[in-house]
Amino acid sequence: MKLKEWVESAKKQIDTLDCELIAIKTLGFSDRIDIIMHWEDEYDFSEADKLLEKRKNGLPFAYISGEKEFFGRKFKVNQNVLIPRPETEQMIISALGIIDAEKYQEVSIVDVGTGSGCIAVTLKLELLNAGVKSDISGVDYSVPALDTAQENADDLGAYVKFFRSDLLLSITELPDIITANLPYVDMKWDWTSPELKYEPAMALYADDGGLKLIKKLIDEIVEKSDNKKKRFLLLEADTSQHDAIIEYAKVRKFELISHDGFIIGFKY
Ligand SMILES: C[S@@+](CC[C@H](N)C(=O)[O-])C[C@H]1O[C@@H](n2cnc3c(N)ncnc32)[C@H](O)[C@@H]1O
Repeated sequence: MKLKEWVESAKKQIDTLDCELIAIKTLGFSDRIDIIMHWEDEYDFSEADKLLEKRKNGLPFAYISGEKEFFGRKFKVNQNVLIPRPETEQMIISALGIIDAEKYQEVSIVDVGTGSGCIAVTLKLELLNAGVKSDISGVDYSVPALDTAQENADDLGAYVKFFRSDLLLSITELPDIITANLPYVDMKWDWTSPELKYEPAMALYADDGGLKLIKKLIDEIVEKSDNKKKRFLLLEADTSQHDAIIEYAKVRKFELISHDGFIIGFKY
């Protein structure tokens, strides 16, 4: 079949950009120019048809391409990890804001629920660029997610320690900053995207209206804290959950310091 025939037919079933990207990926092209150059050429589209079918059934494009951009860098993704979301980029801006305001020359950070490692790796590289020394760890309960995070750190040249931990269970000493984009989707929400069914349930859903793990993390911090040093906690959650989280944390003596988009910042 000619490339133009395949693209014309695929365009009727999925987004034009997605079908061009499928063609680029499966025909070994480097970019869209190749599509124009080879518009009249004949190819075998069996691999492209398989991906077209998957995309039609809702498989997110990032899982087809195997990558997603986060804060200007490409991260490898697969179905063991959540696809990094644009709203999570605010976590980086908030963390860098704290580091700047506190004039840290050296900072320790633990990213809880690290998934693809996008937060931990980005912070490591941004701090390196800013000339700030950092000791950064990323923890997750999922071993395949940790493998992906390590791969991303290696590809992007970031030295981050990744290890398995159920929330803070394997953390002996609290760091200066904890970043946590934990699962917060309530199974009962009826407005979530159908694409979510392709992402790991362990990365998305939590009981107690989606707040179970966030509340547990706050409780674990309270248990581990020696109150000898000012420390920070940055959490991501849906905006509809923010009031409940702020209330829960305030009762436990956390002070709200920032509230931007999906990200809430506390000092303790
Ligand atoms: C919403 S995803 C966030 C992934 C990544 N940090 C990001 O922002 O794209 C939540 C992550 O938390 C992990 N997770 C779930 N329960 C956990 C637990 N009890 N302890 C540690 N990590 C957990 C999941 O495996 C998943 O990778």
